[in-house]
Amino acid sequence: MTENEQSISTGGTTKRALVTGAASGLGRAIATRYVQAGWRVLLTDVDDEGLTLVGKDLSRVGEVATRRLDVRKDADFERARTWCEDSWGGLDLLVNNAGVASGGRMERVSMDDWEWILELNLKSVIRGCRTFVPLFKSQGSGYIANVASLAGVANLPGMSNYNVTKAAVISLSQTLRYELKPYGTGVSVVCPAFVNTNLGASMRSSDPVAVDFARRQISGATVTAEQVAEKVFEGIAKERFMILTHREGHAIRALSRVAPSLLERHIGKGWEKARLRFEQADAQAARGEVR
Ligand SMILES: NC(=O)c1ccc[n+]([C@@H]2O[C@H](COP(=O)([O-])OP(=O)(O)OC[C@H]3O[C@@H](n4cnc5c(N)ncnc54)[C@H](O)[C@@H]3O)[C@@H](O)[C@H]2O)c1
Repeated sequence: MTENEQSISTGGTTKRALVTGAASGLGRAIATRYVQAGWRVLLTDVDDEGLTLVGKDLSRVGEVATRRLDVRKDADFERARTWCEDSWGGLDLLVNNAGVASGGRMERVSMDDWEWILELNLKSVIRGCRTFVPLFKSQGSGYIANVASLAGVANLPGMSNYNVTKAAVISLSQTLRYELKPYGTGVSVVCPAFVNTNLGASMRSSDPVAVDFARRQISGATVTAEQVAEKVFEGIAKERFMILTHREGHAIRALSRVAPSLLERHIGKGWEKARLRFEQADAQAARGEVR
């Protein structure tokens, strides 16, 4: 066993889950909910220190193991799958949760920032699915929960790079839901609105006004990661496809079906206000004023 592969405690549970990005925020809360329900959980992240802390904390509740898994690396996913097969004889639930946030107006977001977010929010989920689908197929059972965002449904202006990654995760999840059903494997996609986690800290964008804007929304959110985790737990238990964790999520979904022009007007009004704030901040920056 290496230092990256630490079995923290043992227990008598049967179901087994792997959560990416489990050292913080939604990943941590989802992992906690499953440990509380008696599942064995493999907590993975690139934040070694955070992972150790969460691992120690959760080992008091149930059976967990921790493992460094960088979602940008195929080899890390493959090693995690081998670990699940060798240590647990398989896996029941893969939660592709790790991700970052960004935003920015179309002409401002650099191609480097596009590459960065596609890698972390989309290719990461593709990698997780590619690695574990063969195992689930060979078991004849399994479940994948991909954490997307309401952003992938609402497509709010000024954040195309984030929206695109999350909309693609929804598309991937829907495709796999159809594709894997005959193999006994279910798929859900989680679409939360803002939750107060550490997501703001990892934000990157060549349009800094958008970062300020999103950070304020994240830090001002009232729905907690634990509330989202409860909805995720219930939604997966019911094998619901799209797990909407916020009231506004249900409202946007309903409006997009029954009154799309009303939704468009509402989003247009919001963008008028936001756009003015973006332009005021641009003007301040041009005058060398600190925001
Ligand atoms: N917080 C929100 O408002 C919100 C809303 C909708 C969707 N989401 C999504 O929820 C997911 C979790 O975000 P969060 O809000 O808990 O943020 P967070 O920053 O609190 O947690 C993200 C975790 O992912 C880990 N991570 C980052 N890069 C990684 C990598 N390369 N490999 C493995 N792990 C890595 C981080 O170390 C961190 O522990 C993300 O996919 C995010 O897009 C968040």
